[in-house]
Amino acid sequence: MFSQQEQPKKELPVFILGIETSCDETAAAVVGNGNLLFSNVIASQINIHRQYGGVVPEVASRKHLENITGVVDEALQKAGLDFADLGGIAVTAGPGLIGALLVGVAAAKAYAFARQIPLLVVHHIEAHIYANFLAHPSLKPPLVCLVVSGGHTNLVLMREHLSYELLGSTRDDAAGEAFDKIARFIGLPYPGGPALEELARDGNPGAIPFPRAWLGDESLDFSFSGLKTAVINYIRRKREKGEDVPLKDVAAGFQAAVIDVLVEKTIKATRAAEVRQVALAGGVAANGALRDLFQLRAQEEGMHFYFPPKDLCTDNAAMVACAGYHHYLSGRFAPLTQEAYARYPLIR
Ligand code: KG4
Ligand code: ZN
Repeated sequence: MFSQQEQPKKELPVFILGIETSCDETAAAVVGNGNLLFSNVIASQINIHRQYGGVVPEVASRKHLENITGVVDEALQKAGLDFADLGGIAVTAGPGLIGALLVGVAAAKAYAFARQIPLLVVHHIEAHIYANFLAHPSLKPPLVCLVVSGGHTNLVLMREHLSYELLGSTRDDAAGEAFDKIARFIGLPYPGGPALEELARDGNPGAIPFPRAWLGDESLDFSFSGLKTAVINYIRRKREKGEDVPLKDVAAGFQAAVIDVLVEKTIKATRAAEVRQVALAGGVAANGALRDLFQLRAQEEGMHFYFPPKDLCTDNAAMVACAGYHHYLSGRFAPLTQEAYARYPLIR
């Protein structure tokens, strides 16, 4: 038995406060040592933007401004912590909607300056990738990650922490953007991805053979505009002929065409990089059919497949805090002159 004085001191985790405002979620979270989730608060604006059929940038910035301090306070309160307990404040600096990003970056800088806390700056795609490290504490690079969201479709090789090689990306629409556009055309509510997945559940993915854009044997790039046009033309032709549109089959066929290409190109890239771990990230990673096909193909190839839980796939601040922790470990602190960037390359 130890007396009160002799008791060995328990090391406290390094607590990072994450802040995310790149699109339409005002989010703050506290993560300890990169994988202990203490709080994860999200003020979603989905119901506001739904009435416009998509995100209205000016409205998003205004809502971020209204919500940011309350969301940060709630994240700290839920974690049972104060600013003085933090080892760093991590914020998404880009890419995204500039007016939205500025709110998070300005708030993070103000807190960092006022409380003398190190500032850490995270790239939005990097944060999505790090959702996997948050969810799977034993995961270590190297891995290939497919990042599929409303704004991005990127195949990224990560040989070690904070090191990225871009293997492929979309030449036109992002995967989530394609989901959202087709959903909108069909008349489904924003955001289209989850609604379209729901509709596809009872459809036959093989009923309508929509095209797959392979872009040649060697290419690891993606393109979804041809598929989008094919789906829209199919629906228009049916309507012109006065025939019923089999919406469930259209949704299932479209979804299958997207995920077939996503999965096969990612498996090919992982094989070519001689890596045995493959991961999925970003809002579209919440898609059940995509996860199932990945699981199956990875198993066939003898690869380990990782994906975050659904609430860590779509935008959140816990993934920002996790990535920020790795910046903290490598001593990559940001100056208080840090800016926000609508366009922000992952590899700088
Ligand atoms: O990562 P995210 O929350 O925001 C961006 O960084 O863009 O991703 C949002 C995107 C939207 O396009 C949304 O429709 C899509 O992810 N998404 C889905 C699903 N859940 C969200 N797409 C397909 N199936 C889903 N279940
Ligand atoms: Zn995102």
